[in-house]
Amino acid sequence: MSKGKILLTGAAGYIGSHTWVELCNAGYEVVGVDNFYNSERDVVERIEKILGRPVLFEETDCSCPESFGKVFQKHQDIVGAVHFAACKAVGESIEKPLMYYRNNIVSLLNLITLMKDKALKANIVFSSSCTVYGQPDKEHLPIAENAPLKRSLSPYGKSKQMAEEILSDSVVAYPQMKVCALRYFNPIGAHPSALIGELPRGVPQNLVPFVTQTAAGIRDHLNVFGNDYNTPDGSCIRDYIYVVDLAKAHVKAIDKLLSNCISKAEDEPTYTEAAKTGRWFIYNLGTGKGLSVLELVNGFIKATGVDLPYQIAPRRQGDIEQVWADPKKAELELGWKADTPIEDVLRSAWNWQKTLK
Ligand code: UD1
Repeated sequence: MSKGKILLTGAAGYIGSHTWVELCNAGYEVVGVDNFYNSERDVVERIEKILGRPVLFEETDCSCPESFGKVFQKHQDIVGAVHFAACKAVGESIEKPLMYYRNNIVSLLNLITLMKDKALKANIVFSSSCTVYGQPDKEHLPIAENAPLKRSLSPYGKSKQMAEEILSDSVVAYPQMKVCALRYFNPIGAHPSALIGELPRGVPQNLVPFVTQTAAGIRDHLNVFGNDYNTPDGSCIRDYIYVVDLAKAHVKAIDKLLSNCISKAEDEPTYTEAAKTGRWFIYNLGTGKGLSVLELVNGFIKATGVDLPYQIAPRRQGDIEQVWADPKKAELELGWKADTPIEDVLRSAWNWQKTLK
């Protein structure tokens, strides 16, 4: 018997697709929604191949209230939503701010409106980002959920901060709502089946897809952006988390929202009113370990045995020097931990890349 029907927006995307598999594996019935703006249609069939059965899918743009509303009419038994549908490229967001605000904010407003108006169980897991912390001060590393938020420089980052504000205000106003905001650090790797993974369009902006494309000979070398940062080897430090571990955290978050638990009011200055309701949860999702760009590059060479030509290049504008998570709260309250060894994660990224050649 199903544990309940969950709406999954952005279901064909990188993290969405992995979460789709894990929610189904955990016994949820999932309605996937995507408009394929930044994902491929065949992801749906690939999910079916992994699961060995058909899935429920609706092609819909969440920023269009009419078509999104039809999904709710058709599936009146939805008991929760995991909301991924959003654009996520920092640089592109500076060039196209309106598109970012429309996709990222309007979709969320539609989701909240539909969940509460239909008097559905208004349980929402929101895909947020560690970008809300900006460059944390040294004393806040590793970064916990009550670290101060810093004003984001990009429309993408601002859209995540705004979305958290909108959700926290809604939790205060609507007693039927429960929300879990998950702040991801740097998701990498691919499903062990190598049937789904990250599919960047054009030249990858993120590190690991650039690494795997370079190893595959699609790019002639990797640029390591900066070796003069104030870190042990001079390159930037991030918390790289395996996408399958991350996907499993969404299952735990939905489990938690569907249970009758309420949180203790958290010591979170920005969201005090929401925290007081006991229906507002924030978790940092990372490994708790920082890895430098050079460590990741060398780890990839070691894990795969594949050569990876790289050069030191100037710093990339807007990059944060170092950030990694304190994931204790997620472990304590969700019973979740990211524990896949980095070598296995990097091998999974390489195995996926080899299928794309
Ligand atoms: C960025 C965003 C984050 C967003 C994520 C996913 C910021 C501060 N962070 O993360 O909010 O969720 O993208 O889209 O805007 N690097 C190289 N060479 C490359 C590519 C990257 O050296 O070719 C380095 C970068 O300088 C950085 C690290 O690798 O130090 C990770 O970069 P990236 O994968 O782009 O992620 P973030 O910038 O951390």
